[in-house]
Order: sequence, then structure tokens, then C-alpha cells
Amino acid sequence: MQKNNSPYIVEMKNITKTFPGTKALDKVSLRLRKGEIHALVGENGAGKSTLMNVLTGQFFCDSGDLYVEGEPVRFSSPKEAMKKSIILVPQELNLVMEASVAENIFLGNEKVSGIWIDWKKVQKEAKKLLELLSVEID
Ligand SMILES: Nc1ncnc2c1ncn2[C@@H]1O[C@H](COP(=O)(O)OP(=O)(O)O)[C@@H](O)[C@H]1O
Ligand SMILES: [Mg+2]
Repeated sequence: MQKNNSPYIVEMKNITKTFPGTKALDKVSLRLRKGEIHALVGENGAGKSTLMNVLTGQFFCDSGDLYVEGEPVRFSSPKEAMKKSIILVPQELNLVMEASVAENIFLGNEKVSGIWIDWKKVQKEAKKLLELLSVEID
């Protein structure tokens, strides 16, 4: 597929996703322009989470197309979606209780230097973020 001159930063077209026994999404389309804020509203089981999981690379859809800035994409993981600045911030955060605050903040997004995690940088960046939020946590 070719990149089109889309006015949308994100476009989902005719997304269908079936789980065993349930058609969670039936040709759902969503278009977002730069700077817009949307609320996705629907009753429990309407398919909101599934749609966002498709957008953020958690699930593959069975059919349909996804474009980011007019470019056709197909994310196979949240990490791939993140490369296009598409991130899902879940309502309920799961923390790794055994890990430090800094480790939790950068979980899956660690600061690396070559093949090694740069823990000093992780700590420094975490400190900056906490200061920004005016929270005092060790
Ligand atoms: N991993 C899954 N396996 C099987 N069925 C699922 C799964 N995730 C969601 N569903 C089903 O898909 C439908 C849509 O669910 P969901 O996207 O979670 O809705 P919402 O977020 O709007 O409450 C529901 O019928 C739900 O039971
Ligand atoms: Mg949900």
C-alpha cells in the first residue's frame, strides 16, 4: 500500500476482530486529526479496549487497515507502536513491586548505552520526572 496524503494522524478503517465466540469489533473506523482529544464511549464489552489494543499493537486485527500520518502500518507489538509515538496509558497500573521506582518508570523503555542498561541515566531521568511532578519519593 502507498502512503496517502491523509489529513489524519491516525486512521483506522473497517477494523474487525473476533475472539472465540465474540465479534469484538465489526468494521470499526476511527479518524484522528492532530491536536484533537477524543473520548471513546460505550457500554461494557462494546469493544473500546479491543480497538485501543489493536491501535497500540497489543492485538492484530483480523481485517481492516491502520494508517499513521497516511502511512499504512501493522504493529506486531506495543514497542512498534511506541516507535510511532502511539502509547496506551492503562487505567490500572501494574507495578513490579520488587523493582525500584526508577526501574518501574522506565520498565520496557530503559535507557541503554550500547547493549547495557545505563542505570545512572535511568535514575537521573526518573529523578527529573519526579521533580517535574513535585513528588518526593526515594
Ligand atoms: N482476550 C479476549 N478473549 C476473549 N474475548 C475477549 C477478549 N478481550 C475482549 N473480549 C471480548 O470482546 C468484547 C469487547 O471487549 P472489550 O474490548 O474489553 O470491551 P470494552 O473495553 O468496551 O468494555 C467483549 O465481548 C469481551 O468479552
Ligand atoms: Mg475496556
